[in-house]
Amino acid sequence: MTQLEGRAGDLSHDGRGVVRVDGKVYFVEGALPGERVRFTRGKRWRRHETGRLDEVVEPSADRAAPPCEYFGTCGGCAVQHLSTGAQVRYKQRTLLDNLERIGRVSPHVVLEPIVGPVQGYRRKARLGVRHVPKKGGVLVGFRERHKSYVTSLDHCLALHRDVSEMLPALHEVVSSLSCFDRLPQIEIACADQATALVFRHLEALSGGDYEVLARYARERDVDVYLQSGGPDTVMPLPGSSPRTLDYALTAHDVRIAFAPTDFVQVNAAVNAQLVSRAVELLSPVPDDEVLELFCGIGNFSLPIARRVGRVIGVEASEIMVGRARDNAARNAIGNCEFVAADLYTEAVRGLSSRDGCNKLFLDPPRSGAVEVVRDLVPTLAPERIVYVSCNPSTLARDSEILVRREGYRLSAAGVVDMFPHTAHVESIALFER
Ligand SMILES: C[S@@+](CC[C@H](N)C(=O)[O-])C[C@H]1O[C@@H](n2cnc3c(N)ncnc32)[C@H](O)[C@@H]1O
Repeated sequence: MTQLEGRAGDLSHDGRGVVRVDGKVYFVEGALPGERVRFTRGKRWRRHETGRLDEVVEPSADRAAPPCEYFGTCGGCAVQHLSTGAQVRYKQRTLLDNLERIGRVSPHVVLEPIVGPVQGYRRKARLGVRHVPKKGGVLVGFRERHKSYVTSLDHCLALHRDVSEMLPALHEVVSSLSCFDRLPQIEIACADQATALVFRHLEALSGGDYEVLARYARERDVDVYLQSGGPDTVMPLPGSSPRTLDYALTAHDVRIAFAPTDFVQVNAAVNAQLVSRAVELLSPVPDDEVLELFCGIGNFSLPIARRVGRVIGVEASEIMVGRARDNAARNAIGNCEFVAADLYTEAVRGLSSRDGCNKLFLDPPRSGAVEVVRDLVPTLAPERIVYVSCNPSTLARDSEILVRREGYRLSAAGVVDMFPHTAHVESIALFER
């Protein structure tokens, strides 16, 4: 085994230290920018190799003691060894580097980062379940880092506290089900007043299983759902009447209801700030007509609709579109229209006939919105575009088109620490004509 020594220059997109030695690039888990480290050569890939950290020879001033005992094994968090302030600075640098390197643009104003609590922030999570007799039976937790094994968690600092406290009992409940080895996943969704657990099962449950789950639901004050197949098979535990799941966006006098497997922004406190920042950047006035793409269940649509003449929300999932309409009705908001369309196809061109829309808001998945900026923006020609992104490289690619080809100015951009202790970089950007 060859041991090498070198200085880490930066962090990779998944939080590993990037160390260059003799022109070769090594991704070393646990190494931080600026640190001199000793490591053992690991796997070889086409463009880089991995390295196993043996010793930090010169530690970074930003190094922190990871607060969680599972850190290093559990794949839920990647950068707990970096102080929380440095994590946000790292995310900001990643955003600006991507904009410069991929998009050849830089924002006129770098926005103050949006931050929130760094523990107990996860209101949505998918926990893996595995039966591993050699490790003592049923394991419940997040996947291990770079592996498909499950880390058995008795608590989790990232999960909402009520859910973290439930973990030991959850191991016991799953172990006592007849299909304990045919239950791959539990999805968790915390609303403001209720928590839902969705048990994905590959085999039918017995009457005894229903009783075990009903007792657990009663004792823990949670609502249990079962999922035997795809998302449309999710149903409440027979005989139960689950509560409505919803969250408030108080500053906008809005409540958003959701189903336990719907997409909802993971971090409630950060989402509330993000929605307010998005509304502010859109600079809404009563005459505005806003086209909102990738609108989900209306998280941004309804707060925007409170301040403008009209919002047209577009989203691929018919189910989410239905939910967005219901949410508008629940909040007595009548100036919204929701449409189902696949925004990664030619359907996006058809939206240019939505004339009158003078502002555009978008919040795409990781793959970004190249079809929107390339095929819709030239004809729609919105005066202002607010773009929320969960992947700085696709934001940078789309920014280049908006700035270099369409003549927009990148007026502002900033990071949103939606997932503290992970390497995920969320951001928001404003483009103006
Ligand atoms: C990052 S989420 C944002 C949801 C919403 N803005 C929110 O804050 O809750 C991205 C959304 O894009 C939708 N989506 C994914 N692929 C899509 C596609 N091809 N066309 C339209 N919408 C899509 C997803 O269903 C999801 O609701």
